[in-house]
Amino acid sequence: MRQVREAKVPEDEASEMIPRLFRDGIADPSARITRVDGFRLVPVMEGKEGSVRALGLEMVSGPAYSEQSRPPMERIKALLEDIPAHDLAHMPEKWEIAGDVVTLKLRPSLFQYGGRIGRAYAEVLGVSTVLADVSGVSGEFRVPDMRALYGEPKESVKLENGIRYCFDATKVMFASGNLAERRRMEHLDCTGETVVDMFCGIGYFTLPLAKFSGARRVFACEKNIESYGFLLKNIALNGVADRVIPILGDNRDIPGRAFADRILMGYVQTTSGFLAKAVRMAKPGCTIHYHDTFPVGRQEEMVRSAFSAACGGRGFEIGPIHEVKSFAPSVSHYVADVRVL
Ligand SMILES: C[S@@+](CC[C@H](N)C(=O)[O-])C[C@H]1O[C@@H](n2cnc3c(N)ncnc32)[C@H](O)[C@@H]1O
Repeated sequence: MRQVREAKVPEDEASEMIPRLFRDGIADPSARITRVDGFRLVPVMEGKEGSVRALGLEMVSGPAYSEQSRPPMERIKALLEDIPAHDLAHMPEKWEIAGDVVTLKLRPSLFQYGGRIGRAYAEVLGVSTVLADVSGVSGEFRVPDMRALYGEPKESVKLENGIRYCFDATKVMFASGNLAERRRMEHLDCTGETVVDMFCGIGYFTLPLAKFSGARRVFACEKNIESYGFLLKNIALNGVADRVIPILGDNRDIPGRAFADRILMGYVQTTSGFLAKAVRMAKPGCTIHYHDTFPVGRQEEMVRSAFSAACGGRGFEIGPIHEVKSFAPSVSHYVADVRVL
């Protein structure tokens, strides 16, 4: 059967991306576009794979459509069928894709087959690097602990809701569980506002907000030089250099008082230690998007107590509190929208 190389275009990017692939001479005009698992598979011309990856899209390979329409998990398990059934049953059925890098969570008993597992996922998903998340993120900089199962660690680009996030998953975190909050930032109306992102990382919240919310300027502060390097790349990649002012350093050293209309505090567990600084930067009426982990049910009481301690004489109004994701049994990561008066 003829082999095909195809660009995997998420459904919600299809109307923008597919015409672009044809316009740029990347898509093969003589071949059939197919639809699989929320993606369009667009056959590409020979020699154009680099251009596809530069757009943040994943490539898949293999025999033509009839084979690709089998669910990826079936094909992965078929390649690993000699692994004992009790281990095969625990192969990860979910993964994260950024360009041509896939990240998996493997239970410890599966690491003994690491190389084979990596090769199988790489082959079926059409990627060149497969990483295993060993123990999550740690430390002040939230540094990940990844092991390469297949291929070499490298930078890649994740395309999500029209935003390109370039990063190396072995060096900096990417919290896929915060997708809804990234989308919420995109839909805020920040027309004309001055925004401060105190913990911006590679631009997780800064980029969607800067690109879509109408903000006049976003001060994006990051202390880890590795993340800061990706932030600079992402500002350029997403065309927001006219609005985003990157700051390398500790957010407690940001100069100025009462200048911010909105402040993002996308950090958990020690967030309250930074709140007094946020309040000093807040104009009257400023909204602080305050993240932290709280026992489920106690979030409002604990947000109130943190703001009472940090606000001194200033009043505040607690608005909606959203759950971002579950953090531990009976503990969730929440974000509270609080107006400082
Ligand atoms: C958890 S990450 C960002 C998470 C992101 N908001 C998300 O939810 O996906 C937080 C970032 O804050 C940075 N950071 C930690 N302390 C900081 C400080 N005092 N000033 C500036 N950045 C800091 C870390 O290096 C890290 O990149």
